[in-house]
Amino acid sequence: MLCSYPKSGCHWLWECIRYLILGVSDVHKTTDKESSMIELNTRENIEALESPRVLNNHAFFDEQPADLKTKGLKIVFVYRNIKDVAVSYYHHHTRDKTYKYSGTFSQYLQRFESGLVDSGSVFEYLQNWESGIKANPSLKVHILSYEEMNEDPVRELGRLSDFLGTNRDGDFLQMVAMETSLDAMRIKKEKVTSFVDENGQPIMYRKGKVGDWVNHFNTEEREKMDKLIAKELGDSSLFKFEDMSTS
Ligand code: A3P
Repeated sequence: MLCSYPKSGCHWLWECIRYLILGVSDVHKTTDKESSMIELNTRENIEALESPRVLNNHAFFDEQPADLKTKGLKIVFVYRNIKDVAVSYYHHHTRDKTYKYSGTFSQYLQRFESGLVDSGSVFEYLQNWESGIKANPSLKVHILSYEEMNEDPVRELGRLSDFLGTNRDGDFLQMVAMETSLDAMRIKKEKVTSFVDENGQPIMYRKGKVGDWVNHFNTEEREKMDKLIAKELGDSSLFKFEDMSTS
């Protein structure tokens, strides 16, 4: 089960995990992450997926299926610099044809900080996952950040492969890193993605940069957000935001 708050790199990681588990296949050009996203599908659809399945969702820990705790599922949890999440979500909601949000970034940011967006508050989401993981020490969870993945994809793919028990060698990991680069995915996924703007243009594979927030936040907004992150998540021992805030 791949879990993340939206815009934290879920499509990227889903593709990586599938490569690690299934190997190379044309299926990457024909299947989208949304086909195994549990909140978007019926139980029948999910049950009909071929095993091994790479399921995914954006739900809080408390809303996860009960089997997550009892069936020994492996959980990959990805999180991202919250300021970059806000920017990415803003573009998502502005461009996606089903939303067409028309406010400014500053207006959007107020909604985001208050949790008035899909999936609710990113702060509550991460807090809830942290307490859930700590209260269930037998869970098999691998936590990584978008920034770590961006810094050294081959290193992170190696860690993922160890966690998943897929035993992929260095050449394979290099191949996966190339095949799941933003440019590669933009081409491969454009025909299967369900996220498009009103002209039918795909929107999911945008900049893929660490630190794009500097192009959107003014000084006041940055200070306010950094204070919020420190207040809400400063005590976290699972999620680290210090280095990210200056990147
Ligand atoms: P940006 O909007 O900052 O570019 P999610 O998949 O969780 O919705 O996250 C989407 C974000 O991940 C977008 O960020 C998107 O560009 C980025 N992304 C998607 N595929 C990626 C890839 N292969 N490599 C790096 N970033 C990727």
